[in-house]
Amino acid sequence: MKLSHQETEALERDGFIILPERFSMDEIAAMRARLPALFAEQSAANVIERHSGVVRTAMGLHLRDPLFADLVRHPRLIDPALQVLDAPAYVQQVKVNVKAAFSGEIWQWHTDFATHHGEDGVPEPLALNLHILLDEVTEFNGPLYFLPGSHRDGEHKARLDDKTTSYPLWVTDQDRVAHMANKYGMVSATGKPGTVLIFHDTLIHGSPNNMSPWDRAIFSLIVNPVSNAYTTNNRPDHKHHRDLTPITPVADDCLTKYVAGSDGEAGA
Ligand code: SIN
Ligand code: MN
Repeated sequence: MKLSHQETEALERDGFIILPERFSMDEIAAMRARLPALFAEQSAANVIERHSGVVRTAMGLHLRDPLFADLVRHPRLIDPALQVLDAPAYVQQVKVNVKAAFSGEIWQWHTDFATHHGEDGVPEPLALNLHILLDEVTEFNGPLYFLPGSHRDGEHKARLDDKTTSYPLWVTDQDRVAHMANKYGMVSATGKPGTVLIFHDTLIHGSPNNMSPWDRAIFSLIVNPVSNAYTTNNRPDHKHHRDLTPITPVADDCLTKYVAGSDGEAGA
């Protein structure tokens, strides 16, 4: 499923696009059904919230569960990504950011590239972040905030913050956030389950604590051109996968076998 001309223009102009309900409720239910078992695993790839002890982010999921192995090659994610990148790309990072009701903590203001560059030595800000909303995301349960246009406006200075949360992140200075927000405004990325977000590596974004009684899980796949791969190995594999095999899309109905009531792996 390719992006229209209008969609590619909006992505270029704003640094992100929101594609409502690209995955069906059955497909989303199948994804969500895998999560409790994954969150229960004793794994370094499950990063725990500092205060509540619940899972903050569950990483490396395509290596831990067959549904997610299919999902990272899903044409509704990969066709648009390859269309934009126009180059062979590898799976850089795969996770579900949980942001549980009452206890999900902040993701500070940042660009993804700051961490990709600072931690993994990725040379250029070419990667794309592809999200699928697994819950309805509203103004209340910790949506992502985007600063539209910030991806193409000057240099992004960043510093490593390993104090604020349990996930070390290269964060953007508040002065720069204020300047960009006053210049361009701010958008909260809300939508129904199944909505897809695509955003650029240098787009400034973040998300607040979830103090609502509603969970806010988001699947995230980061893809990066093979020609722009990591140059250092500081972080564990689940934070930046080392396999540079180019992603090839699978069939659009690849999730059907995981949907409860289908003939495949139903309800497994
Ligand atoms: C979040 O899950 O709110 C943050 C996601 C991201 O930084 O890509
Ligand atoms: Mn990010």
